[in-house]
Amino acid sequence: MNVVVTGGTSGIGAAVVRELSQNGQRVSFIGRNRERGQAIAAETGGHFIQADLSLLRETHQVAAQFQAPIDSLILCAGGIGSKATPLVTSEGFETVFATNYLSKFSLSQQLLPQLTTNASIVMVSGNSRYNHASTAWQSPEKGLRAALKASLALDLYAQQLAKNQPTLRIHTCYPGMVRTNLFKQQALPVRLLIDLFGQASAQASSYLTRLIYERHEGVHWHKTSPMQLHLPPTAADVALELWNYSHSLLAKYS
Ligand SMILES: NC(=O)c1ccc[n+]([C@@H]2O[C@H](COP(=O)([O-])OP(=O)(O)OC[C@H]3O[C@@H](n4cnc5c(N)ncnc54)[C@H](OP(=O)(O)O)[C@@H]3O)[C@@H](O)[C@H]2O)c1
Repeated sequence: MNVVVTGGTSGIGAAVVRELSQNGQRVSFIGRNRERGQAIAAETGGHFIQADLSLLRETHQVAAQFQAPIDSLILCAGGIGSKATPLVTSEGFETVFATNYLSKFSLSQQLLPQLTTNASIVMVSGNSRYNHASTAWQSPEKGLRAALKASLALDLYAQQLAKNQPTLRIHTCYPGMVRTNLFKQQALPVRLLIDLFGQASAQASSYLTRLIYERHEGVHWHKTSPMQLHLPPTAADVALELWNYSHSLLAKYS
């Protein structure tokens, strides 16, 4: 299989790169940190591509490097907002929304023509509790609200993509709490909680790779169980708005 992994330089994505490479798959992976990327490429034989996926222009440059056939996309790149004010990219988007949602939208849309029949797209998402998430797609959020909004956007996108592309296997997966670099900027009690109760990243990897190796019905997963989304009442309207907004951005930054 030819597999493309984002966030392959750390945490869950790096564990996916390692697991798939050990199983003999051809893996290309993307991240910002060149040193870690090169080290993981040397260790696994994977192909490292350095890019800042919070920038739509860079997602286009990355997508242009891939040719058919691609059997699976595993999209893990992301972070959590931890600042008092929202961080905004040089393209003007809130960074967490851009990385956790827009990069996945952009890469998956651009690589659709390269995907094989029945290919899988597996995207790391949140815990599905979106009743109070913001749906003001164009307004920057800060802190955990930014990550919550990005996860909601991603799950709504995945629902629509699964409807539009019935031959593909589209999934989001919430892996639960995982011990990774994600929390290294967080307060000490949070870091202790993760150290004590977080799962190993190899465990999280297995939840994602299961969805590419085996055929499973249903879009949203919590570890190995189907997951029901808790959506705001306006979900259908805001999903359509999001779809149109995201496509307008893709065209603008191509
Ligand atoms: N850990 C958890 O408990 C947990 C739970 C649920 C969901 N998640 C989600 O899982 C995803 C992966 O998190 P993780 O726990 O594996 O964290 P991590 O160890 O910090 O890894 C994050 C990965 O994303 C990449 N990345 C971040 N920003 C990027 C950017 N602008 N451009 C390109 N690559 C970028 C990082 O690359 P560089 O290091 O090279 O910059 C790194 O490879 C995140 O979206 C997170 O919200 C995590």
